Amino acid sequence: MISHTKPVKKILLLANGGREHSIAKALKKSQKYEVEIYGFFNARNPKIIELTTDFVINTERNFGEDTQFKALQDFAQSIEGLDFAVIGPDDPIGAGVVDALLEVGIQSFAPTRKPAQLESSKGFTRSLLQKYDIQGNPEFRKFVTGEESELEQYCTTDIVKKYKFVVKDDGLCGGKGVFVQDDHFKIHEEGAKIALDILAKSGKIVIEEKLEGPEFSLLCIVDGKTIIPMPTIADHKRAFDGDKGPNTGGMGTISFPKKLPFITDENIKEALTITEKVMKAVEEETGERFCGVMYGGFMRTKTGSKLIEYNARFGDPEALNALPLLQSDAVDLFESAIHQKLDSMTVKYYNKATVCKYLVPEGYPTNSVKHTTVTVNEDLLQSLQLDENYNGVEVFYASVYEDEKTGELKLGGSRAIGVVGIHDDFREAKKLADKAIEAFSGPLFYRKDIGSEELLQKRMEMVV
Ligand code: AMP
Ligand code: GLY
Repeated sequence: MISHTKPVKKILLLANGGREHSIAKALKKSQKYEVEIYGFFNARNPKIIELTTDFVINTERNFGEDTQFKALQDFAQSIEGLDFAVIGPDDPIGAGVVDALLEVGIQSFAPTRKPAQLESSKGFTRSLLQKYDIQGNPEFRKFVTGEESELEQYCTTDIVKKYKFVVKDDGLCGGKGVFVQDDHFKIHEEGAKIALDILAKSGKIVIEEKLEGPEFSLLCIVDGKTIIPMPTIADHKRAFDGDKGPNTGGMGTISFPKKLPFITDENIKEALTITEKVMKAVEEETGERFCGVMYGGFMRTKTGSKLIEYNARFGDPEALNALPLLQSDAVDLFESAIHQKLDSMTVKYYNKATVCKYLVPEGYPTNSVKHTTVTVNEDLLQSLQLDENYNGVEVFYASVYEDEKTGELKLGGSRAIGVVGIHDDFREAKKLADKAIEAFSGPLFYRKDIGSEELLQKRMEMVV
């Protein structure tokens, strides 16, 4: 008999990207528990696999398919004494994977399908804020199939003198369903055409007022009753330096010891108030509480914090900044959310700056090279490891896999490897991230400007 000195926690982890690697690492850091991770994956990400006790590879790419639920349920039921599941990505959450696991008696750190509409339907969230009179909405209107002429009239006549606008597909589009005036189209007529095209494809859209100001991500761990904020983080969504090029899932993220320099304490307070009210409104509206991460994308405008969107999961890359800073036990934190006991938790974070940069394949996001080899200078990474003062580098593997025949590390086609510099001083954190980037060779690129003074200055200048 193996005797464990610490109680064992068996945790199912769904997905194998950079975010999930950071979740797995945070769980394995537990001082209180012997953590066993059981992975339901779609690729052999070697660094996550290293952390698992067992895993299955399900090569169907879409975790959100019902057929995958059956395979997942079977896998969950095959693990004796499984404690809970953690679901990383939006698609399966939006499709109801948490409900599917509940059917076989497994609770998850992630919301059920109905409250997850906060992310899976942009119209749901806008209407919720409106109905429950929660501050933070821009002007907006929803349209469905059959309302084409109203839509055209709204975009080209009603709002022309009032505001610039944004067209949003109602559903999940992996960051590709949003079109912003000035960035993606110039005049109202052009935007109307885009809106009509999207409506024809998806049947449901939201038109909303374009907001101006710097953006920030505020992720909160929530259980329906209590919200626990993580440090504020800023993402860089455009593919190329200078915030140019197409939108991506996020090329890199920054955080500061106290808060981002281009937002105020008041902005954070407002965003927290919105999140708390929305958490309660969601339960009132759907009859089900929200358990998991409410990740608010906010903008600091001249009338305070406005809501861009909610995600119902950890951000990627935001998780790569925030989870390494978590000093409290991640197992306790996730389980407390599941059992609605967050009010009994005191959560601590290291008070550090972080700069995260993603190495992505050449051609990303539209035409990525795939299945090409990446080589890693492990000695360099070793020399950059976190020191006794908790300054150093964390590395997270994302869309990469190990070739079973050759053992080589190959590109999967999406964001490949995330490096995070962690330091008391923001500039040092950037230097550490840039140094870690040098450890990887292959057809890759990254954003050199993330964490630079120029870019910070640009964010400051966006304050209106
Ligand atoms: P989303 O997928 O909703 O996060 O939108 C993607 C990006 O579009 C956001 O990060 C913003 O930069 C931009 N965006 C979305 N909604 C608005 C808005 N109402 N005003 C200005 N920019 C927006
Ligand atoms: N950082 C963007 C996202 O996770 O959606």
